[in-house]
Amino acid sequence: MILLVTSFEAEDDHDKWRSFVCIVAFMAQGSDGLEVREASEADIKSLTTIIPRSCAPDALLNQLFPPDSVLIQQWWAEVYRKAAKLASYYILVTVHGYTVIGVLTLHFWRPEDPISTNNGLCTLVPLTDGHVKRKELEEALYNQASRRERIMQKQPNFMIDLMVVDQEYQNGGIGRRMVECACRIADPKNAAIFLQTTKAIAFYLNLNMGFESQRGDEESGVVIRLPTQDHLDPDST
Ligand SMILES: CC(C)(COP(=O)(O)OP(=O)(O)OC[C@H]1O[C@@H](n2cnc3c(N)ncnc32)[C@H](O)[C@@H]1OP(=O)(O)O)[C@@H](O)C(=O)NCCC(=O)NCCS
Repeated sequence: MILLVTSFEAEDDHDKWRSFVCIVAFMAQGSDGLEVREASEADIKSLTTIIPRSCAPDALLNQLFPPDSVLIQQWWAEVYRKAAKLASYYILVTVHGYTVIGVLTLHFWRPEDPISTNNGLCTLVPLTDGHVKRKELEEALYNQASRRERIMQKQPNFMIDLMVVDQEYQNGGIGRRMVECACRIADPKNAAIFLQTTKAIAFYLNLNMGFESQRGDEESGVVIRLPTQDHLDPDST
């Protein structure tokens, strides 16, 4: 078994978590031989096409990020490259050969971080003319940021802001394995995981990993996983 180490250099001060993720990657190899690890520069090209390979042509993600646009592909490359250099972002990938067949991106936020300018992958690089539904995207990002801020309050938390698996590999346990890795990253930091999804609420709730739909807010698609100690102690708030 080979332990792959990312070729990116971290720009901020959480370097120690990088080595932790490498250990996570080592632990996350399934019986199918596919492993979950952090993305490296070699994965970027394949990452720029993972959404159209994973989602139906009329899916919201394909409308917000038109897959045929060169500008969008360049934008994704820039986004992934930038995120990979920041220690508060984790780009977990499952790779078959040289092709990325699954991605889960995580963003860690602490109360001292300005949420308005740093709220996940899509806020890292300015939107382009290729984002033809720019207004809808900006509105969705704003709503997501507001919900995250309101629901998580001042608690440090992770957000899963992208999670897709190539259609050819769906229902093979890759999604579950990537979420397990995300939980292994969040738990030592005693941090909740927040996400907003229209299509995959049932997926997260059925994993039996502690994800719960936000009470009274079901229509917004917010799903939360509280820190591990909260799962263990049902009386804790
Ligand atoms: C949703 C998605 C990420 C799941 O990944 P996956 O690798 O196919 O999922 P897994 O094979 O790990 O499935 C794990 C479990 O969830 C179930 N599951 C898979 N997709 C599901 C869905 N859409 N709704 C409910 N349950 C689902 C599986 O049956 C499996 O159950 P089991 O462990 O009890 O057998 C993937 O299907 C996908 O990319 N879909 C299109 C894009 C999308 O909707 N992304 C989510 C936006 S946040």
